[in-house]
Amino acid sequence: MAGMASIRNIVILTGAGVSAESGIDTFRDGGGLWERHRVEDVATPEAFARDPELVLRFYDMRREAIQTRQPNAAHAALARLDAAWPGELLIVTQNVDDLHERAGANRVLHMHGEHLNAWCTACDARSPWRGPLIARPACPECGERALRPDIVWFGEMPYRMDEIFAALREADLFVSIGTSGAVYPAAGFVRNARDLGARTLELNLEPSQGTLWFDEARHGPATELVPAWVEEMLAG
Ligand code: OAD
Repeated sequence: MAGMASIRNIVILTGAGVSAESGIDTFRDGGGLWERHRVEDVATPEAFARDPELVLRFYDMRREAIQTRQPNAAHAALARLDAAWPGELLIVTQNVDDLHERAGANRVLHMHGEHLNAWCTACDARSPWRGPLIARPACPECGERALRPDIVWFGEMPYRMDEIFAALREADLFVSIGTSGAVYPAAGFVRNARDLGARTLELNLEPSQGTLWFDEARHGPATELVPAWVEEMLAG
C-alpha cells in the first residue's frame, strides 16, 4: 500500500478465515458450520429457551475442539505486529476462540464473545470456563445454575461497540482479515472506517461481500497474506 509511513493507528477486524488453517471450521464456506446446523436451532436466544440441551451441547463441542487447536502463522504475525507497533492498534475479532491470545496478542477485543467464558444469567458475572455446561454447573460467583455460553447470538448486541467506534474514529488504517462480510455490524466497519478517513485493506481467501468498499484487496490464505503484510508494516 502506498503511503504506509503516514499510518499510526490501526484497527484490524478478524473473522473465521484467520482460524481456518488452524483447523477451526468457518461458518459460510463449503461444509461450514451453518451448512451443518441451522442458525435458528443453535445460535439464537429463542433456540436456547426452546432447547437448552441442544444449544449447550453444540457449544460444549466447539469449546472442547478449540482447546485442541493451535494458533497459525497469521495469528503469530498479528501478535508480532501488536507487540512491535508503536501507535494505537486494536484487533477486533468476531472469533470466539482464543488463538489470537495464545499467539501472544494483547490488544484483542472479542465482539462476539468467547468460548472460554461462561455467562451467568442470574448474576451477570462472566467466569473463565473450559469444561462443559450441559450438566448445568453452578455459577462460581453466585451459585445459581444459570450459566450460558458467553457467545453473542443472532438478535443480540455485539460487545464493546463504543470502544470499537472510538478506535475506528482514530484509525488511519482499517484491515479486514478472513471474514465474509455477511454479518453486521462488523460487515459495516469498512464503510464506517472510510467515512471516518481511514484507508482500508482486505486480506481474504476470496473477495468478501464488501470487497468493493476496500481501497485494496489481496486474496489468498491468511497464513501467507498476513505475515507478508505485517512484514511490510514493520519495514515502514
Ligand atoms: P464466515 O464463515 O462467514 O467467513 C469466513 C471467510 O474467511 C470467508 O470469506 C472465506 O473466504 C475466508 N477464508 C476461509 N479460509 C480462509 C483462509 N485460510 N485464509 C483467509 N481467508 C479465509 O466467517 P465470519 O465472517 O467470521 O457469529 O462470520 C461472521 C460471524 O458469523 C461469526 O462471528 C459468527 C457467524 O455467525 C456469531 O457466532 C455471533
